[in-house]
Amino acid sequence: MTTERPPAKSDRLRRHLAGLLVGELAPHERLPTERSLAEEFSVSRLTVRRVLDELEREGRVYRVQGSGTFVSEPRIHKSVELTSFTEDMRSRGLRPGSLEVSCERIPAGADIGYALRISPSAEVLHIRRVRTADDEPMCLEHSYLPAELVPDDLEPELDGSLYEVLSARHGLTLHRAEQTIRATVLGPDDARALDAPPFSPAFLVQRTGFDARGRAVERADSLYRGDRYSYRLTIYRDP
Ligand code: GLP
Repeated sequence: MTTERPPAKSDRLRRHLAGLLVGELAPHERLPTERSLAEEFSVSRLTVRRVLDELEREGRVYRVQGSGTFVSEPRIHKSVELTSFTEDMRSRGLRPGSLEVSCERIPAGADIGYALRISPSAEVLHIRRVRTADDEPMCLEHSYLPAELVPDDLEPELDGSLYEVLSARHGLTLHRAEQTIRATVLGPDDARALDAPPFSPAFLVQRTGFDARGRAVERADSLYRGDRYSYRLTIYRDP
């Protein structure tokens, strides 16, 4: 015969607090005081403190000395957002644009083919754009998309966001990307396109983007002017 133990008072308190944290209280709202929790659940202040210590270690609450215990921001598992140039510039209060847009079908070649998981002889759509922020050249972008995924006549649609066009009109939505960022300098042609002095510093951002089915949708080389662009991240530390 098994006898079920009634839940300990501290378990009831833990469950109650967990409920408050997932539903009732918003991030940065204050939890009830230790004293009121102790009274409500008929436990000692020490028990309340231990339960709160545990929640603090899990990163679900934080304490401010003299003020109380507060709900933490929800943990973000996706550490970096996959944004488009358009979204990135808008979030900085800048107006995104594109100049000198060109579009051509070419064989993928070894490097792009490898990145896109297609044969080097398969066709890709090569899109070249000078990306502007408030009408100033910011980035020279070469995107390569497997030709079989996109229609021939994409060019007229490319005055705005490529990602918006791909998702809204062609059902291709990026889900995940592998990306590297490294320092470089602008060669004379790239410098001319970006209206910058030759050999001035730049960031090269290389991205391979995949859709939710795991298909490689885009390989892109984005060359940002080092004097105009800073790479922004919001990063989180596990408790
Ligand atoms: C970023 C990415 C590119 C991508 C672009 C799409 O710049 N590094 O890989 O092509 O965003 O931006 P938009 O949707 O504004 O055309």
